[in-house]
Amino acid sequence: MAIHNKSHNNHALMSLNKMRKDNSTKQKSAKDFDKFGETKILISIMDCCDFLKELPDECVQMICIDPPYNLELTGWDIYENYIEWAAKWLEEAYRVLSKNGNMVIFGGTQFRDAKSGDLIDIIQYVRRNTKFKLINTIVWYYKNGMSAHRYFANRHEEVIWLAKSNDYYFDLDSVRVPYSEEDLKLALKDKRLNPENTMKGKNPTNVWQIGRLNGNSNERVGHPTQKPVEIVERLIKALSCRSSVVLDFFAGSGTVGRVCIAEGRHCLLCDSDKSTLDYFTKHIEQMRNLGKDTSHIEVESINEFFKANV
Ligand SMILES: C[S@@+](CC[C@H](N)C(=O)[O-])C[C@H]1O[C@@H](n2cnc3c(N)ncnc32)[C@H](O)[C@@H]1O
Repeated sequence: MAIHNKSHNNHALMSLNKMRKDNSTKQKSAKDFDKFGETKILISIMDCCDFLKELPDECVQMICIDPPYNLELTGWDIYENYIEWAAKWLEEAYRVLSKNGNMVIFGGTQFRDAKSGDLIDIIQYVRRNTKFKLINTIVWYYKNGMSAHRYFANRHEEVIWLAKSNDYYFDLDSVRVPYSEEDLKLALKDKRLNPENTMKGKNPTNVWQIGRLNGNSNERVGHPTQKPVEIVERLIKALSCRSSVVLDFFAGSGTVGRVCIAEGRHCLLCDSDKSTLDYFTKHIEQMRNLGKDTSHIEVESINEFFKANV
């Protein structure tokens, strides 16, 4: 039985098409930005809840965070009542997110013997107590990891994608994966698939195989839980448009800021640890060494960040 192409009923696609019509997602060159001018980055060293309170309503298009989970690995991941604390930043995150905005949260579900606080707790809380919609759970699968003898060695983490409404922004085309020559021939024969989309590549699905950064990875800047550029890049390209504002209030090394500079998004970073400033400098040095364009303006305050360059 043929499965109909339901793309005309897909809220995300309809909203993307509308935005395209409205010209709000015009593909601009990396440095041809809208009213904010050149890529702006703000790095704020303070507690995330205090930082979030200073942001205006609906001022960011995407939030990409990798929170602490009470693992007691370092000083910053211990919270007495984890979900009570997380509820505070989740509420603020909802307020600052634009109507078509997206929020992604990195985490794991394999830490149940640790003190409470993991992605399962967050999903439960979000479902029961907030208006966020859970759009996808992405399984981040990697081949490199710790060995284990009393259980199956873990090789995945999760990223949840939450949206504020059904009109969430989603640019699948920007992250499609090319078909192999052989698979492309088969896909073009498949009547259920739209050939125009098939030519653009395939949906990466919600299982992503991307290597973790091991200790001697060239990408390492010294943060103990630094995330790979590749995974952050896919999220930012698909869930935020050029020239929009992306927020990471658990910035760590500032991987999100690095990707924003490369992909032409403005970025608000916050972390309670001032080492973020040094880590971020190392990210920029690395980009330069790789011959990447690192031009951006580091602004000092939220007011300056949102001031139009006209
Ligand atoms: C898992 S790490 C983020 C790593 C980051 N994704 C990267 O790629 O480098 C979490 C970060 O949250 C920060 N953090 C913990 N509690 C915080 C708080 N209350 N406010 C702001 N930052 C906090 C820690 O200092 C740590 O750098």
